[in-house]
This record gives sequence, C-alpha cells and structure tokens, in this order.
Amino acid sequence: MRHPGLQRVLFDEAAIAARLDEMAAGITAFYDGKPLTVLAILNGSLIFAADLLRRLPIPLRFESLGAASYRGAVSGGTVTFKGGLPPLAGRHALILDDILDTGCTLHAVRRKVLAEGGPLSVRTAVLLRKRKTRIEPFHAEYAGFEIDDEFVVGYGLDYDGRYRNLPVIGVLDPARRGGG
Ligand code: XMP
Repeated sequence: MRHPGLQRVLFDEAAIAARLDEMAAGITAFYDGKPLTVLAILNGSLIFAADLLRRLPIPLRFESLGAASYRGAVSGGTVTFKGGLPPLAGRHALILDDILDTGCTLHAVRRKVLAEGGPLSVRTAVLLRKRKTRIEPFHAEYAGFEIDDEFVVGYGLDYDGRYRNLPVIGVLDPARRGGG
C-alpha cells in the first residue's frame, strides 16, 4: 500500500504487531502481581499505548500526561506539561512514549514522576529509540525498534500535527516538510 508523505516504510503493521507481542510478554512477566499504573505521554504514544495495553493481561490502571518538547522537525529544549500527575504512591509506574530522541522529554517526565508522584518504581517503554548521542542520556527498559537518526512519522508520530493516523511507521519524505 502506498503512503503519501513517506519516503519509505520502516515498519509495517505486521512488524509492529509482532514486536508489541514481544514487548508485552516482557512487561507482563515483570509486573505480574505488582500494582501497576501505565502513564502514556500524549499525543505521540496514543496508538502505541492502545495497542500495547490490549496485550497486557494483568490488572493495571491507565493514566496519561500531555508533554511537548517539539517544534516541527527539531526536537529538544524546554518540556511543557499539560495536566497533572495521577496519584502514584504505592504503585509501580510504567511510562509509555512513542520515541526516545534527544531524551529531553523522558528525562523531564521521569524527574516529575519521581519528585511528585512518589511511585514504588519507574520504568519506561518506548516504541522507537534513535541511535544517536542524546542531549539527556536516558535508559528505556523496553524499546520496540532501534532506528537511525531520521525524522519518522505514522502510528501516532506526527509532523506538525499530520500523519499520526498512518498505520505504519516510515521516514517522512523531506519534500513534505513545510507543506505537502
Ligand atoms: P525527545 O527529543 O524529547 O523527543 O526525546 C520526544 C518527543 O519528540 C517527538 N519526536 C518525534 N516525532 N518524528 C516524530 O514524529 C521523530 O522523528 C521524532 N523525534 C522526536 C515525539 O513526540 C517524542 O515523544
């Protein structure tokens, strides 16, 4: 299937589904029997969270936090939050995000969760992890796919608000930046 706006597809629906099955198995094994709150960072992790949650056959609570550190195709800088944190005392927190790029967003989210939420533990699951030197070094316990340092869209990831609804993940056609 053609996807206008993509230079090439990196991961199609079957590849994403198969990897989510593997990630969910690891997450389930770790959190089975523990009080778990999954905290999705919106908007980017919306589709990842929806598909991952349905693969976790364990009791959990779901919460979300709006965070943004992104201007067009350049990541990093100040992180702003929309909304507050849910109560996390006495619970294990699993943060979900779409992509680990500069590390600025997850670094700020993790610091906020630890400082304000007081959870029993914090882990992070990202769908994509870019191979690069990060502005804020960050370790994600669960990562779906390693990718090169290219701008990707689809499956929740956007460029200026577009392409989130693509069912695949692909590299944005450079000609689409700023228009298309
Ligand atoms: P940082 O740089 O803070 O990035 O690790 C976190 C957020 O920036 C967005 N992001 C991207 N969005 N394609 C996108 O569509 C990309 O290649 C990309 N890199 C970073 C994303 O929202 C992520 O949560």
